[in-house]
Amino acid sequence: MSDLRWAVVGTGGISRRTVPDLRAVPGCAVTSVVSRDQARADAFAAEWDLPRAFGDLTTALSSDAFDAVYIGTPHPTHYVLAKAAMEAGKHVVCEKPLTMSSVEAAELADLARDRGVLLLEAMWMSFSPAVRRVLEVIGSGEIGEPRLLQAGLGFAVPAHARRYWEADLGGGALYDMGVYSLTLADLVLGDVASIDVVGDVQADGVDLEDTVTLRYAGGGTASLMTSIVTFIPPRGWIGGTKGSIDLGERLFSPESLRIVLGRPPEPPHVRDEAFPLEGSGYLPMFRAAAEAIRAGEVEHPWHPHARTVRIQELMERIRVALSG
Ligand SMILES: NC(=O)c1ccc[n+]([C@@H]2O[C@H](COP(=O)([O-])OP(=O)(O)OC[C@H]3O[C@@H](n4cnc5c(N)ncnc54)[C@H](OP(=O)(O)O)[C@@H]3O)[C@@H](O)[C@H]2O)c1
Repeated sequence: MSDLRWAVVGTGGISRRTVPDLRAVPGCAVTSVVSRDQARADAFAAEWDLPRAFGDLTTALSSDAFDAVYIGTPHPTHYVLAKAAMEAGKHVVCEKPLTMSSVEAAELADLARDRGVLLLEAMWMSFSPAVRRVLEVIGSGEIGEPRLLQAGLGFAVPAHARRYWEADLGGGALYDMGVYSLTLADLVLGDVASIDVVGDVQADGVDLEDTVTLRYAGGGTASLMTSIVTFIPPRGWIGGTKGSIDLGERLFSPESLRIVLGRPPEPPHVRDEAFPLEGSGYLPMFRAAAEAIRAGEVEHPWHPHARTVRIQELMERIRVALSG
């Protein structure tokens, strides 16, 4: 028996990847799809065996076919879609980045509070059991005080993947991929004191490659890279005063951690921990969203509105620094 009925908004790549994880959460059913086009909605509904297919948002939001939406559309569309959904009383899980500006993100957070609905940026990394374990290990003091963090994610995006290349579709590396490294650094190191940026940005504002060094108020430093023209292994590494944590090969949803303790020249103590993915890795986030909705929460403590807004502000500052 399902107590939470979901609509998926957008019939593209990420919706296809997330539907199986969303419908695998106990008590959750995907009942609807919303597209800009009825034929695409019908095709998606047939492919995934969904009872309702909507070819426009207004009709969808005035229906009683679902309680919550998962928004899987290009970044610049998120604000309008999330706002409309919350105004219609629907809970919202929206792909990263939540918006294209911190002002919009803060406005959506206020609206969620006003309407009493959940608003969650779909930053699945914050819900990954491996990342939760990273925070636990750091909290235990095992690697000492975290001081250095390196993280990266990038690949040579083909020209046909339009949303990465077109400014109007939110193109560029930072908002799509850099957002992960910035979120990891925020989780581990806290408040940013200063930013240095080098990179390549096109005349239309689409950033091709960014190398960002952040100094944190607590004394830590993060070195982050992202690119849509160069492969950057999706890795993260945290160095503390007593040891380090390596987040393996899937920064956005790690499957393993390597914890290394020691002081050279003594041989290090190495411990590997495995975190098999649930579904495609989105499941823990959707489960957390469902639990938050049932508890009447408007945000989730593992990825609160304040973090989303903070990261949006950082991305704005990085973009200004890149273009300057
Ligand atoms: N968490 C992750 O692992 C992950 C991975 C990839 C992407 N994402 C995020 O998911 C979002 C979508 O990425 P995607 O790769 O799925 O994009 P995509 O395949 O290019 O597009 C997704 C869908 O959005 C809909 N859409 C609505 N307005 C649109 C517009 N103005 N132009 C084009 N399409 C529009 C389209 O569906 P209809 O034609 O049916 O309306 C399209 O099929 C992005 O914000 C991205 O950051 C997250």
